[in-house]
Amino acid sequence: MKKTLKYCIKILQLSWGANGFYSVFSIVGTIYQSTLYPFILVLALSRLLDLLGSGRPVTSIDLTVIIGSYIFSSLLLNIVTSYLETQSVLLDTRMDNYLDLQIQKKLTHLDPATFELPEFQNLLTQLEGVKGTIGVNVMRITAFIDSIFKLITAAIVVSTTFPTFLPIILIATIPSFYSLDKYRQKVWKYFVEERSILLRVSQYVKNVLSQDGTSKEVAIYKTGDILYNKVKAHQKAYIQRFTKASEAGLPGVIFTRIIEFVAFIYTQSLNLKAVLAGTLGIGQFALYFQQTQNLMLGVHGMLDHYSSINMRNKYIEKYFEFMNLERVIHSPQKSLEIAVEPTPPLIEFKHVSFRYPNTKRYILRDFNLVLHPGEKIALVGENGAGKTTLIKLLLRFYDVSEGELLINGVDIKNVNLDKWYTHIGALFQDFIKYQFTFKENVYFGNQKQNDNLIFLKEAIKNSGADEYVKDLPQKYDQTVGKMFKDGIDLSGGQWQKLALARAFFKNAPILILDEPTSAIDAKAEYEIFQRVQSLQKDKTVFIISHRFSTVRNADRILVLDEGKIIEEGNHEVLMNKKGLYAELFNIQAQGYK
Ligand SMILES: Nc1ncnc2c1ncn2[C@@H]1O[C@H](COP(=O)(O)OP(=O)(O)OP(=O)(O)O)[C@@H](O)[C@H]1O
Ligand SMILES: [Mg+2]
Repeated sequence: MKKTLKYCIKILQLSWGANGFYSVFSIVGTIYQSTLYPFILVLALSRLLDLLGSGRPVTSIDLTVIIGSYIFSSLLLNIVTSYLETQSVLLDTRMDNYLDLQIQKKLTHLDPATFELPEFQNLLTQLEGVKGTIGVNVMRITAFIDSIFKLITAAIVVSTTFPTFLPIILIATIPSFYSLDKYRQKVWKYFVEERSILLRVSQYVKNVLSQDGTSKEVAIYKTGDILYNKVKAHQKAYIQRFTKASEAGLPGVIFTRIIEFVAFIYTQSLNLKAVLAGTLGIGQFALYFQQTQNLMLGVHGMLDHYSSINMRNKYIEKYFEFMNLERVIHSPQKSLEIAVEPTPPLIEFKHVSFRYPNTKRYILRDFNLVLHPGEKIALVGENGAGKTTLIKLLLRFYDVSEGELLINGVDIKNVNLDKWYTHIGALFQDFIKYQFTFKENVYFGNQKQNDNLIFLKEAIKNSGADEYVKDLPQKYDQTVGKMFKDGIDLSGGQWQKLALARAFFKNAPILILDEPTSAIDAKAEYEIFQRVQSLQKDKTVFIISHRFSTVRNADRILVLDEGKIIEEGNHEVLMNKKGLYAELFNIQAQGYK
């Protein structure tokens, strides 16, 4: 009960946040429309009937009051109804937008480690449904408040003459409430959890079928029918279970409703008896008939809405759970800043071991590495060797499980992360293809420099992206990607060059490149690395690559295997060593002979 109230208040706060005063108006308007107006009407009508039935002359004052209150309240009703009819879509949209922004704002404050958690991804997919449910609960809360008004007005009116009606109706409604509540508890699981699983499957298949990157494979492997049938089978099984649960609860709900109806008939027999005995006028009979009905609607509605709100809150809880998520990695309260000048910092991995949260396997074991300022270091190693993981540690997306990671001798756990990131330009293996303009794709690398056209052009030239920009109709202002109107899609390598330009544009003392040229042609790759060597002289450059053409010019090459560095040195040293590096190099070279 306390929790329900707490959530209701929170939901109303969200509604206020989205729609301000209008959210209050729409609650008051709904109560007027559904309870107050009919009440005024039946009061006026009953007064008129009683006057006519009493046989005494109807005075003009009586008529003015009755007709006046009818006209005034009806005019008000028209205004309220018009408002609710025309504005409800707008209010819903504003609520939807508001929640979207709240969710996005929260997303920008979470850290990368959070996004890699499967539970988090589950929660995220549920949020879409939760958003709609919040809107429904605003309506349910409005209806709940309305039911209370209905109940109070009806209870006051009816109890003046029939004090027994209230307890009779109350008692008769209780079984109905319980059966409905039980029914909801049974089917809610299907409505929420099972449904969200189904939606996730369906959404996933829809994406695979419709996206640019996936539809080609679907076409040639003819997997469309298989995927379609998968969704269909899921849906069928789901509906079957849902129907079974739903049907099982139905008889109880119908039976208890009949009890309610019998109780109502009983009260009206008493009402009719009073008219026949001459103690009540016809107008009063009509008034009590309508108000007893309202009494029932009020009690029933109140309990029904309460149980419904309660059920939905279990789902809406996910929203608050999401909004309360904390970052996995916390920056220390008193964090240290790393001096940028005159050289990039010294980075040391000291006896570092690491495994991902909730996993047993160590990706790095007693790993040691020193990155000297200004060095050009390359890292090679098999798929899954832990190369990208190493970068995640360097960016403190995760904390090391054992050992230390030191930046200029300071443990990274004591370093201010926001400041640390200003030292680093990075191109990730799964970089972003911003579906905005060509220029923005580069600017996003360094918002402080976003009016520096000279730097921008230089970064674009160094990444090789200048070679195709001239062919874009809108040049730098060309929208790239196919997501939005007039966008032009780029090739895989063109996208990569653009992301590389972004990393260069940041002009940070440390440059981290994870598979920077996997999609870039050999000639462009050669030119890019010539520039990296000559232009990034003072910077520390850390390159991960499977391509030996990318790696061979590095000052130092590291070979990572089973979480440890097993070989290190420049290309010549490693070739002479005739170890794993030489073996892999020769395998790749063989292909070109
Ligand atoms: N978030 C994660 N949670 C659990 N395990 C993970 C996570 N990310 C990666 N791994 C595991 O860690 C290992 C190392 O992954 P990593 O991405 O560092 O490899 P990599 O060397 O970069 O490989 P590639 O050459 O394919 O890019 C893999 O076995 C992978 O399954
Ligand atoms: Mg990787």
